[in-house]
Amino acid sequence: MGKRIIVFLFFVSISSCNLAFASDPEPLQDFCVGDASSSVRVNSLACKDPSLVKPEDFFFSGLNISGNTTNPFGSKVTPVFVNQLPGLNTLGISMARIDYAPWGINPPHTHPRATEILTVIEGSLQVGFVTSNPDNRLFTKVLQKGDVFVFPIGLIHFQRNVGNTNAVAIAGLSSQAPGVITIGNAVFGSNPHIPDDALAKAFQIDKSVVDQIQLKF
Ligand SMILES: *[C@@H]1O[C@H](CO)[C@@H](O)[C@H](O)[C@H]1NC(C)=O
Ligand SMILES: *[C@@H]1O[C@H](CO)[C@@H](O)[C@H](O)[C@H]1NC(C)=O
Repeated sequence: MGKRIIVFLFFVSISSCNLAFASDPEPLQDFCVGDASSSVRVNSLACKDPSLVKPEDFFFSGLNISGNTTNPFGSKVTPVFVNQLPGLNTLGISMARIDYAPWGINPPHTHPRATEILTVIEGSLQVGFVTSNPDNRLFTKVLQKGDVFVFPIGLIHFQRNVGNTNAVAIAGLSSQAPGVITIGNAVFGSNPHIPDDALAKAFQIDKSVVDQIQLKF
């Protein structure tokens, strides 16, 4: 009887352990190249027939090309996620190149499914993330070429070019599909809009200020 309880507790602890990990599940085969044309609905993309898999399925070209930063934020993310590189399917990893115009910002955002590790390969960036409630503590740092910073999964973070030259960073992410929620776009640019009186109360500002911000998104 005592033994059964121990076994039961063991499984309870194992299963609650699994719930605590938010990263992508481990693959159960060498690879499962994503088949975007498949109509099968699974928790990722269905696997392409392995006999049809080619080296190109594991290949992406283009991170040598600078992103176009001519936009209001002055930054551009070039993702290499499962949609760009189907061989990443089920592997729990991806990457991106981020370009920043002088003083450009990659605005506050979060990746619901990934921790991000970022290195600067050109220029200098101020980076930071904010911890969850109630502390909302900002961890920030100025990075130079070769410096590395990590943004823990789910936390709101940003990068800003703090120089008069272009900056470039390369990021690794612990999901094939990290997801991005840009705070400004989600809160002020949702479709349809969150009612302006609700946002006015939430942000403790005048409704006309909310309307003004909503117009920008
Ligand atoms: C980027 O690399 C590709 C493939 O090697 C090459 O064809 C292209 O010319 C390069 N572009 C730039 C801007 O360096
Ligand atoms: C960059 O984006 C801007 C705004 O969308 C556009 O006007 C411009 O032609 C683009 N530049 C290049 C080199 O593609």
